[in-house]
Amino acid sequence: MGLYQRVLQPRLHDLPMGTKSLVTARERVCAGLVGDVVEIGYGSGHNQPYLPAAVTGVWAVDPSVRGFELSASRRAASPVPVVHTAADAGALPFPDDRFDSALCTWSLCATDDPAAVLRELSRVLRPGASLHLVEHGLAEDPSVVRWQHRTSGLNHMVAGCVLDRDVPALLDASPLQVVELRTYYEPGAPKTPGFTYEGRAVA
Ligand SMILES: C[S@@+](CC[C@H](N)C(=O)[O-])C[C@H]1O[C@@H](n2cnc3c(N)ncnc32)[C@H](O)[C@@H]1O
Repeated sequence: MGLYQRVLQPRLHDLPMGTKSLVTARERVCAGLVGDVVEIGYGSGHNQPYLPAAVTGVWAVDPSVRGFELSASRRAASPVPVVHTAADAGALPFPDDRFDSALCTWSLCATDDPAAVLRELSRVLRPGASLHLVEHGLAEDPSVVRWQHRTSGLNHMVAGCVLDRDVPALLDASPLQVVELRTYYEPGAPKTPGFTYEGRAVA
């Protein structure tokens, strides 16, 4: 990881991920989380204020140490303990059936191997446990898709995430069972990065 990815990109993520327009999606996606939760791409902890009381702990998987440091005030204000693991979510350092829930928000787009991440989540979730996710990805409107393909490479270089990830195809190809997946354009955001998938999948 270079200096830009280590030091600047976590700050670049922290600002937009903290915008008020994402709060209602965070509230919805965190609702119903229970027990020990593995969170993929914890970033600077913007989901922490919305964790329900039934959550006993969060295992935050994110290679970015600087991002985790930026979460300090949100962790301090939360009753839920957080354990940081600076690992790649494509190779989770946890035993099978370890977690009661999983959370992934705007992070599959940032991982190199999202299929491996979903496989690993299915392995570490106990049978019947849910992954709660909200992700931006491949749009349905062909004119938006064209722009997503055109600009995804540049976006990956600057912001560290791709714009055209086919979230339903990835979920369908994974061992997880989708129980709910709705799509919408993020209110107030440009359409190219704003096409959103939100839902639940069960292990
Ligand atoms: C756009 S941020 C989203 C942060 C947070 N989930 C949120 O909703 O605010 C994407 C995060 O994914 C993390 N990430 C990138 N590659 C990863 C990987 N292989 N495994 C786990 N997290 C990763 C980045 O470090 C970054 O913190």
